[in-house]
Amino acid sequence: MQATVPAGLDRKEAEVYLRLDSKRLPRHIAIIMDGNGRWARRRHLPRIAGHRAGVSSVRSTVETAAHIGIPALTLYAFSEENWKKRPASEVSFLMGLLCRYLKAEVPTLNKNNIRLEYIGRLHELPPSVQEKMQWAREATAHNAGMVLTLALNYSARTELVDAFRSIVDAAARNGGLSHLEIDEDAVSRHLYTRHLPDPDLVVRTSGEMRLSNFLLWQLAYAEIYVTPTLWPEFRGVHLLEGIEEYQKRERRYGGLAGDASQAHSSDHPRTRVSAPHAVKTGRS
Ligand code: FPP
Repeated sequence: MQATVPAGLDRKEAEVYLRLDSKRLPRHIAIIMDGNGRWARRRHLPRIAGHRAGVSSVRSTVETAAHIGIPALTLYAFSEENWKKRPASEVSFLMGLLCRYLKAEVPTLNKNNIRLEYIGRLHELPPSVQEKMQWAREATAHNAGMVLTLALNYSARTELVDAFRSIVDAAARNGGLSHLEIDEDAVSRHLYTRHLPDPDLVVRTSGEMRLSNFLLWQLAYAEIYVTPTLWPEFRGVHLLEGIEEYQKRERRYGGLAGDASQAHSSDHPRTRVSAPHAVKTGRS
């Protein structure tokens, strides 16, 4: 049980936080933000109103995660499929929203010691958006607290294709394909997320029971928490409820019940967040 509440939590968050074991917080939480369109439809508003409202949820969730000391948070903001299959007007609205978010949030990210990263095929995004993203990344690069990673134009299958190509390219540069060595660590080292531990917890809003091509390799042992709450209504307190549920689960990594050596993620490989470095996100 927990005695003190970190600064910055509101009353409802503090109530849930006091039920958590602060020594068993997830090292990395990944969130599939879903339900913006349904939130808007229920209010007879255009879909973009749901995306706009979703920014407040991003802000609340990011701040709460940072306040309680979560080392890494990854948000699925924009899938490759969203990019290719949604109307151009919605895509363009989302790009503008992202740029406005970055401009407005950098001071708060700095205040909360949060470092911003991105994953996805970033080079396919509009150049003006890439510039803004690079600016925000550089403006937060000195922060040593939580790593906030935005998945943009992201697809897990594409990430794996890019990783396999990167492994083959690296072998070709280092003496040819006879030097090709592939094991699980090699694949992990060539993923966009190589600077991150695998997520311990994945949260999906709006009740859908799918991973939707998100971090398929990295989520192999993650606990899945699905909440019916639509993303625009999701707040830090809902994240804490997800963590509470996570702490009730028994993680076995394929072992047997009650095996203490597997009881917490800190005992499992790939749990460290790396120091800032020039991460190659997507194919260059
Ligand atoms: C899924 O809802 C959500 C998205 C495709 C976009 C997510 C964007 C935001 C939360 C706002 C901006 C984010 C940042 C980081 C600034 P949906 O449209 O698929 O909802 P539906 O399933 O109800 O139609």
